[in-house]
Amino acid sequence: MPRIDAPSPPADFEALPRLEGPRVALRGFHSDDGAGLFALHSDTRVMRYWSFPAWTDPAQGRDYFARALAARNPDDMLCWVITLPPSDTLVGTATLASIDRAQGRAEIGYALGSAHWGRGLAREAVALVLDHAFDTLGLRRVEADIDPRNEGSMRLARSLGFQQEGLLRERWQVGGEICDSAWHGLLAREWRGRNPGPGADL
Ligand SMILES: CC(C)(COP(=O)(O)OP(=O)(O)OC[C@H]1O[C@@H](n2cnc3c(N)ncnc32)[C@H](O)[C@@H]1OP(=O)(O)O)[C@@H](O)C(=O)NCCC(=O)NCCS
Repeated sequence: MPRIDAPSPPADFEALPRLEGPRVALRGFHSDDGAGLFALHSDTRVMRYWSFPAWTDPAQGRDYFARALAARNPDDMLCWVITLPPSDTLVGTATLASIDRAQGRAEIGYALGSAHWGRGLAREAVALVLDHAFDTLGLRRVEADIDPRNEGSMRLARSLGFQQEGLLRERWQVGGEICDSAWHGLLAREWRGRNPGPGADL
């Protein structure tokens, strides 16, 4: 298995909140997740519509892995590993990035190893992150930047209540290919309307 060397965690290393659903559990990155992260980001099906091309050399993942390990700051970026208990192995990632607490918004990103697609696992994982974003962090709005050709992600986002708010033309250049962005947004009140908590006033 290829190996990405883990940097030391930062001094203020704190556990990211563990999020648990019926089938998935989300945890913070561990120093031994490098191989799993490389496997995910070298899977060409996973990376087809990602913001950078599939990795072919573990060295390509070192900086990314360092950022993922450290990404546990609710004022900046939170990066979870998706696992399928009882296994603790990385099968995917779910991230809140560009967190702006003052403006009450963040961007969400997610990826699941292609061996696990089509079982509703991503929906479960992303829903846990949305609960965290809206209920724990108190954000008002979560955004998703999706290549309009990415049927799986478009459908997942819509099934969670995201609305497409615009088409940003030629926003990305990835591996020499120019790509559009279907910009999606989901508001806290929309999420709560779909998922009323036990004390929700409906
Ligand atoms: C997007 C992704 C996370 C979806 O994972 P998944 O576990 O297969 O998704 P789910 O099983 O939870 O499916 C959610 C919905 O999307 C649909 N869906 C999933 N993959 C699909 C595909 N390739 N084509 C069409 N629909 C698809 C499911 O049928 C389901 O629809 P439903 O609500 O009508 O039942 C996964 O395909 C992935 O990791 N892709 C690569 C990374 C990526 O592109 N991330 C998004 C960047 S914006």
